Amino acid sequence: MEIVGSRQVRPDAWEKVSGQTRYLADMPVADSWFGGTLRSPVPHGRLLGIHRDPSFDWSRVCVVTADDLPGPNVVAMIADDHPILASTEVRFLGEPVALVAAPEPKLLRAALAALRPEIEEQPAILELTAGLQQPLLAEYRIVCGDLEAAWECADRVIAGTYQTGHQEHLYLEPNGVIATPRENGGIEILGSMQCPYYVQRALAVGLKMPADAVIVRQAATGGAFGGKEDYPSILALHAALLARRSGRPVRMVLERTEDIRATTKRHPSRVRHRTGVTREGELVAAEIDVVLDGGAYTTLSPVVLSRAILHAAGPYRLPSARIHGRVVMTHTPPSGAFRGFGAPQVQFAAERHMDRIARELEMSPLDIRRRNLLRDGDQLPFGQRLPEGGSGAAAVLEHAVRHAQYVERRAACAQANQRDPHRRRGIGLSLYFHGGGFTGAGEERIAAKVGVRFAPEGVVEILTSNVEMGQGASTVLCMIAGQALGIDPVHVRHVMPDTSVVPDSGPTVASRTTMIVGKILVAACRRMAAQLPSGRFMETARRWVAAGKELAGEAEYTPPEGQHWDEENYQGDAYKAYSWGADVVEIEIDPATMEVRPRHAYAVVEIGRAIHPVLVAGQVEGGTLQSLGYGYLEELKVRDGRFLNDRMATYIVATAMDAPVFEVGIEELPFPGGPYGAKGVGELPFNGGAPALVAAIDQATGQFVTRIPATPERLLRTEADADGCGDTD
Ligand code: MOS
Repeated sequence: MEIVGSRQVRPDAWEKVSGQTRYLADMPVADSWFGGTLRSPVPHGRLLGIHRDPSFDWSRVCVVTADDLPGPNVVAMIADDHPILASTEVRFLGEPVALVAAPEPKLLRAALAALRPEIEEQPAILELTAGLQQPLLAEYRIVCGDLEAAWECADRVIAGTYQTGHQEHLYLEPNGVIATPRENGGIEILGSMQCPYYVQRALAVGLKMPADAVIVRQAATGGAFGGKEDYPSILALHAALLARRSGRPVRMVLERTEDIRATTKRHPSRVRHRTGVTREGELVAAEIDVVLDGGAYTTLSPVVLSRAILHAAGPYRLPSARIHGRVVMTHTPPSGAFRGFGAPQVQFAAERHMDRIARELEMSPLDIRRRNLLRDGDQLPFGQRLPEGGSGAAAVLEHAVRHAQYVERRAACAQANQRDPHRRRGIGLSLYFHGGGFTGAGEERIAAKVGVRFAPEGVVEILTSNVEMGQGASTVLCMIAGQALGIDPVHVRHVMPDTSVVPDSGPTVASRTTMIVGKILVAACRRMAAQLPSGRFMETARRWVAAGKELAGEAEYTPPEGQHWDEENYQGDAYKAYSWGADVVEIEIDPATMEVRPRHAYAVVEIGRAIHPVLVAGQVEGGTLQSLGYGYLEELKVRDGRFLNDRMATYIVATAMDAPVFEVGIEELPFPGGPYGAKGVGELPFNGGAPALVAAIDQATGQFVTRIPATPERLLRTEADADGCGDTD
């Protein structure tokens, strides 16, 4: 029975489209209170105390401040610099300084209004460039080849600076958790999240409890995009503190405005390229300088930076290079995980820079890419050699160009622009890649486990901490198990992750669920099936459990042979495998308003094997649209450390109304280390949309955009500039 590659109905589809799925805010919890947060009104200052209005009846609510913590004041993550509640210093506007729980939302609001943080305001660092003068949150370097000698081989040296801004995830469902005290003194968390075991660890540290006293259960999760990777840890700590203080369940669900103001965002970036090229357009040497704005605390920034520098050269051969990455601290909300995790920022820069090189050498954007793209046997700047079948770059590029008729359409756009100056058209191209799974030895450190068991009612249950958050993980995992056992996936169920039931399979991040966790799942299924006498699985399994015997299996991650990562020197096999993509985006611009309208988007991805091609197309369309919005629409305006457009009416994202006509192509070069050849797809498309769209703006306007989002305001301002060549501050 061939299940991989077929169309299966999502097991969660009907409940979701019919409105039956209960998200956290809909869930009735007997006797629960509402939790809220008092936040800093300034971006930086000394916290002197918290004033309580004496006319308020404080006996009716619970208040928790940094003085009331049972353990260390840290949200355990990487650097442990992030306090659960500010105690002596506030480092961003919106930073939590106190918590309140009350039986009614109205009373909660009144109590929060009766509290006032006393803060002595201090000068704030609000710009990335100012952050460079301060101690860094993270720094990494990659060096390869003989750079001095390589510059000698260059006919030209071409430099450019590229910038990207904050981005808000805008998942449909805001962040939320419910914390319930357990009778044994422990705590139970139910939350909208990607990483139950991250939350468990943060609570065990922050509440000073053994890990098994903390039970973390995932609730139906209405989108995440990385925004529920690190943030739920702090929210769960807050709800848990209030639950322990009040002795009852406490629900904390953020309002949209609070969610936009206080939760993590995509790291803003500034990337500088200096590249030596031959007259024929071959890249011979490069210096790449990556700076990310990490905001107030470290959170996951070192890992984001690591992925950024490893993807900074784009999917191109670069024999000699020096790549330097830094994360600066600023007094803005902490930047965190967001689909792509550092790779979209640097690949925007790399793709823009390829277009700049093409322009300077009077080559076409297609030819410069064909000449330099990574092929099997090539080495990446950190020494990883792509094996046979390891590069899909040429396959996706040629497929996209042929399918979109890029060359012909480009000529047609140029002609149309001559005929009709009131409606400018343009077409752009991007080539990109994404390493699947954790960086370096990350997967070895996680050592993920996956379990399966045959439940008495005749269903195979998948036990993993990886979550369904809209991306289709439940469907794909059930298909992989079905294929491994030779059964219809309707007989397989993905159990809602619960740390008291499922093993630690690691977080649901880094495009790792299908590729890494799926492979372990296959091994767990085989181990389970091996216990049975021969015969068809469902029949023998039913007889087996009817006889009162247990049927289960577990497997752990096994590192692929022959791969090695040297953390100290940042050299080696940074990722187990790469997925590849190429986009062709066609747009129209009204030159009077500079309003951009994406018309067509062709995206071709190479992902090893598409377990469920329809879901793959959905991931690619959604990720590409999100990336297009990043390129021309989504602008989080920051003034004096405050996000100005902090609601859905003012933070504009691309909707169905803005979506171009999509065509998705799939190339398959099976990866032996993935389940049935599959590699990751979730983050990949985010790397390609923005640079392809901005390249289309080049053709439509003649402007060379170096900073996104390319909003009408920016495009008109640049149009007015003398050189017309983008704002390169
Ligand atoms: Mo994360 S951006 O969910 O890998």
